[in-house]
Amino acid sequence: MDYELHSLTPGFGAEISGIDLTADAGGNLAADLVGVWRDAGGMLVIHDQDLSSEQHIAFSRHFGPLFGDPNEVPLQDTVSRYIHPDFPEIYRVSNQVDADGEPTGRKGAGTYWHSDVSFRDRPAQASILHGKRVPPTGGDTIFANQAAAYEALSDSMKEMLAPLQAWHDFEVAARTQYAKPVVVEDDMAGANRALHPIVRTHPESGRKSLFVNPGFTSHIDGFAGDESAAILGFLYDYCIRPEFLYRHRWREKDLVIWDNRAIMHFAVMNYTDDQPRYMERCTVIGERPV
Ligand code: OGA
Ligand code: MN
Repeated sequence: MDYELHSLTPGFGAEISGIDLTADAGGNLAADLVGVWRDAGGMLVIHDQDLSSEQHIAFSRHFGPLFGDPNEVPLQDTVSRYIHPDFPEIYRVSNQVDADGEPTGRKGAGTYWHSDVSFRDRPAQASILHGKRVPPTGGDTIFANQAAAYEALSDSMKEMLAPLQAWHDFEVAARTQYAKPVVVEDDMAGANRALHPIVRTHPESGRKSLFVNPGFTSHIDGFAGDESAAILGFLYDYCIRPEFLYRHRWREKDLVIWDNRAIMHFAVMNYTDDQPRYMERCTVIGERPV
């Protein structure tokens, strides 16, 4: 393969220029890129990809099964209105409306620290987000390396966290981040609630990471509410220290791939509706965290 690969931060992330995924008919390049992504700690930016939605989906399948694929589970019903009408594998993020005034995607998606779909028994592994229209400034996405955050903790703190599990619940976001009429109440019936270890081990790298997030984690199992809030509050401050972050400033046609098993992210909502921002995301179904 002949391309330019640069590190994004000392700890994680790489960016690639000079490849064209539309010319990758056999998928050899895609298969190699999965390896490049893993080696970069699960954070990869590929610039200048003029992909159709079909090509984006075909590329994403190299990472694993996709939420919304007709043979797989969909995302939660509350976001079904944001799924691409022609491609059930594509979740849309948008601040625009169509001719009928219907949103062309979720506005202000992910404007809080989270790991995609962490409220399912099998949360997301890779999310593959294609920036189709981006504002001239603003609308960055910030990523936080949770493997580095875990590794920087003291041995005593690691020992304390080792046996703990936390509940993740879509309701946490539904009640605070979504307008009331949009929320599908069935989503609160249990299918979007899961218990996961606070420290998970990556199945491929063997590295441990913190796996709690303010967007979806409701509480630590077995602790009183105030105890849980104190421990989670410490972890939430700690795990977004500047040295763990990469802030992505979007260029149009960027394809950004992150590993939700080891990385949290936050969408910065500092742009207005007269600056169109439109993104399409494929979301890969991961394994049960251990
Ligand atoms: C997402 C998300 C980030 C963004 O697509 O999962 O959180 O910057 N969006 O739009
Ligand atoms: Mn997200």
